[in-house]
Amino acid sequence: MRSIRVSSPGRINLIGEHTDYNDGFVLPAAIQKAAIVSLETRDDNLVQMIALDMGDDLIIPIDKIAKQNKDWANYLIGVIAQFQKKFSFPTGFTIQLQSNVPIGAGLSSSAAIECALSFAINEIFEFGLTKMELALLAQKAEHEFAGVQCGIMDQFASLFGKKDQVVLLDCQNLSYQYFPLSLGEYEIVLLDTQVKHALASSEYNTRRAECEKAVAMIQEKYAHVTSLRQATIAMLEASVDISVFPKVYNRASYVIQEIERTIAATQDLQARNLMAFGQKMFATHEGLSNLYEVSCAELDLLIKLVSTNEKVLGARMMGGGFGGCTINLVHKTATENLVKLVSQQYEEATGKKLLHYLVSIEEGAHIL
Ligand code: GLA
Repeated sequence: MRSIRVSSPGRINLIGEHTDYNDGFVLPAAIQKAAIVSLETRDDNLVQMIALDMGDDLIIPIDKIAKQNKDWANYLIGVIAQFQKKFSFPTGFTIQLQSNVPIGAGLSSSAAIECALSFAINEIFEFGLTKMELALLAQKAEHEFAGVQCGIMDQFASLFGKKDQVVLLDCQNLSYQYFPLSLGEYEIVLLDTQVKHALASSEYNTRRAECEKAVAMIQEKYAHVTSLRQATIAMLEASVDISVFPKVYNRASYVIQEIERTIAATQDLQARNLMAFGQKMFATHEGLSNLYEVSCAELDLLIKLVSTNEKVLGARMMGGGFGGCTINLVHKTATENLVKLVSQQYEEATGKKLLHYLVSIEEGAHIL
């Protein structure tokens, strides 16, 4: 019997939202909250899955791996099914899962689980996949077992994160570059709306389809354009009539701007121009809320509440949208008061509690 314990974290994304499945850039980092998988081989052909946090478990013979009616188990089963497309398992195994990545907060709790298990299986059975292959495998699991046609950002960040570094990923060719995040007197504060609206995954898939529609329309005139990465606003104007296809136009317009903004914002960060970076965070939120329409009343309220505070350099909703967290760049001396004030105002307006997390940037998937 062999065993291994792997930790794989959730992520933040500084800027570059809804750009990954459009061949654009993203700027994520792995955080201190992580999923932990303990894997132990068995001498039979059973797969036992134990969700320690929920006190739930499930046993399935390895040749009967298929979708179940337990969401938590499907993240694990999705990964096992992807390995089975490439390899055969010599024995069964027991998985014990626990996680402190908040669910539905936009911190990629599902990618953390998928990546922890992918990493553990690859190690213990010596399947020899690279980290990038594991990221792509975990993304496939999300597509096929969670039904979300996600991009590669979350799985990439969970596996490739490095302590105190952010990583600029070019989703067109999967090349990437690390650099240290130097925020000086500032820190990253996440404010958690504590809501996740039910339409989140279906709307996510719709946005992806709307972007593909924009590409198809632009391609009729500009044959070389295979994704919004190669498109410009001028091309969009010439190809998509906003009065006939307002949604397609607006979605693509947001993405084209966000891809450019991410590059410019990365330069701001490297030049330590945090003011300019913060302004771009606000601009991203505007676009996500008005053009891409993936925000919600609770997220917009949180942005409004911090936007006039001079100690907050920038803020925006983070991740897929329709709930979850905002990411805020806050002067360290002001965080405590800000959280107190915004929590009060948020609770008064919505009747909901606000949670907050101070982010520290940690190592990606690793053996414990
Ligand atoms: C979710 C997806 C990612 C990415 C973000 C939006 O987190 O899983 O692939 O598309 O939304 O940037």
